[in-house]
Amino acid sequence: MYVHVNAAVSVDGKLSTHQREQVRISGSADFDRVDEIRADADAVAVGVGTVLADDPRLGLDSETRRTRRREAGRPPEPARVVFDSSARTPSDARVLAGDAETIVVVSRAAAESDRERLRAAGATLVVAGDEQTALPAATAALADHGIDRLMIEGGGELIFSAFAAGIVDELTVYVGSLLIGGRDAPTLADGEGFLDRDAFTSLALRDIDRLDDGVVLSYDVE
Ligand SMILES: NC(=O)c1ccc[n+]([C@@H]2O[C@H](COP(=O)([O-])OP(=O)(O)OC[C@H]3O[C@@H](n4cnc5c(N)ncnc54)[C@H](OP(=O)(O)O)[C@@H]3O)[C@@H](O)[C@H]2O)c1
Repeated sequence: MYVHVNAAVSVDGKLSTHQREQVRISGSADFDRVDEIRADADAVAVGVGTVLADDPRLGLDSETRRTRRREAGRPPEPARVVFDSSARTPSDARVLAGDAETIVVVSRAAAESDRERLRAAGATLVVAGDEQTALPAATAALADHGIDRLMIEGGGELIFSAFAAGIVDELTVYVGSLLIGGRDAPTLADGEGFLDRDAFTSLALRDIDRLDDGVVLSYDVE
């Protein structure tokens, strides 16, 4: 499976405010760039923290891109994936609405009643991991489900885990021209951090593009 992580950060590397409130970091040209990455993906993934904070739909904005996918024999929209160990996704979350498939990846610790609630809300459930969802096992199960290209949109906890698990092939970061600040504001990669310098992820800078009022940095993961 090919995994592409994309996120928008402030110059100080924050994804949102310390209250975890969404911030408009980029502009319309960047939204269009993100829509194109979504359109190429078989599925778009977030952690449950992003679902609870932002209630994203994770759908395509462009009808042209939906048509292009249909003509290629693909579903008009990519599937949505939520990494949600204990099945906390609200039944009325926007990520569960609409025609696109939604896969909630839970761990074996998730209560059967919550799994059933999410199935009743239309979700497909994948089980991976004992306490927290285990990413290598989850991506293997998603690949079995026909997902060859996965886009991860955040937040910082899930992105860190994805790098720590060594499953990321490509990273694009939009750096907006603002400072958000706050030692507790989510950053591009949170989690516990790499405990050993040898474990740091090395990136190869591929491109720098000026877009809206910021820059897009594109990296391959070495
Ligand atoms: N600027 C951007 O591009 C952008 C994009 C997305 C989000 N955001 C912002 O990011 C913030 C949310 O970020 P976040 O870091 O709190 O949330 P997150 O990464 O979306 O979700 C974190 C949660 O995902 C669950 N999870 C399940 N499996 C996991 C795994 N293997 N590794 C890590 N987490 C796993 C964990 O909860 P369980 O243990 O209960 O499973 C964890 O607490 C919001 O403020 C949002 O606005 C910004």
